[in-house]
Amino acid sequence: MTDYSKIPSPCYVLEKKKLIQNLELIDCVQKRAEIRIILALKGFAMFSAFPIVKKYLQGTTASSLFEARLAREEFGGELHLYCPVYQENEFQELIQEATHISFNSLRQWEQFKEKILLNQVSSGLRINPEYSPVKQEIYNPSSPLSRLGIRAEKLGDKLPEGIEGLHCHNLCESNSQALARTLEQIEALFGHHLRQIKWLNLGGGHLITSKSYDIDHLIQVITSFKTRYPHLDIYMEPGSAVAWETGVLRATVLDLIETSGPIIAMLDVSFTAHMPDCLEMPYKPCIRGAREPKEAEPKYRMGGLTCLAGDFMGMGDYYFETPLQVGDTILFEDMIHYTMVKTSMFNGIKHPAIGIVGSDGSFKLVREFDYEDYKGRLS
Ligand SMILES: Cc1ncc(COP(=O)(O)O)c(C=O)c1O
Repeated sequence: MTDYSKIPSPCYVLEKKKLIQNLELIDCVQKRAEIRIILALKGFAMFSAFPIVKKYLQGTTASSLFEARLAREEFGGELHLYCPVYQENEFQELIQEATHISFNSLRQWEQFKEKILLNQVSSGLRINPEYSPVKQEIYNPSSPLSRLGIRAEKLGDKLPEGIEGLHCHNLCESNSQALARTLEQIEALFGHHLRQIKWLNLGGGHLITSKSYDIDHLIQVITSFKTRYPHLDIYMEPGSAVAWETGVLRATVLDLIETSGPIIAMLDVSFTAHMPDCLEMPYKPCIRGAREPKEAEPKYRMGGLTCLAGDFMGMGDYYFETPLQVGDTILFEDMIHYTMVKTSMFNGIKHPAIGIVGSDGSFKLVREFDYEDYKGRLS
């Protein structure tokens, strides 16, 4: 058992065993469905864990020059690119060692196609399937005025010469039913193009590693689709599913503020800077050992350490069996995907350290951040 109170605070702590469990499941899916699953770096880019991830996944997808560079330096294998818009001044560097690239518009394909054909990167177009199960607008790429993906009516009957693939990303923490519906939509709107291409990338948002995901249904959906399009290489590029529930953000209670309502635990972490999805989505993260308070029970509210008035968990309070004290350890669950990649140093607060708990429970500190990291981003 790992003693989290001995780990530096604050700290993102990846639990290696859980990452391996996820990867084994994902690997099993890619083998059974005969598809390729690659890692979306935008969701998980903790490169000290890449030696483990590489054993299971054949490549990555990058959505910027820096992600592409990280992929080349630390991952290798297939490198897929999709950026909502490409920039002339970095394009040549971006496509180095890329195997696949998807364009968000026909104009951008026209702009860059010569460079692409010279460099022999297999090219695709991102399509908009005009369906998404995602309710939060901020995470819905298929809304009527979305800037992401080409709509069917814009594509016409024939794909431009040189286009070998289609890319579709419309899911977020979704299930296999949403995937089935997506494939129906792709066939209905883009079916005539599927004969002309070599690969179809089904994007991310497949929450394969969640306990409630129906893997057998996914395999059945893909297998049935493949019988109709056996010539297609099918890709999925999840981020969340790879690092889903693989570790915690370890924090400490620094102060307790009494109000007429809940007691507010002031922590050494911030929601806006270290757990931004809690405010963006928004959602209430689980805390290890805590639960929903009942009517008459003492309630604790979690507060961040920046000056932002909204830097607290407003989605609901917590109950702890033992009353909280200054110095107590708080473990926010499932804080490995979309956290380290999204953090900021707003307010000049310290960035959490990054560490790994090995399969034997021992802790290894991978990285700590200091004043120079803060200053280095400013001028
Ligand atoms: C194009 C694309 N691919 C893959 C992903 C990864 O999605 P997820 O982390 O939800 O699996 C995203 C997330 O926004 C995306 O925009």
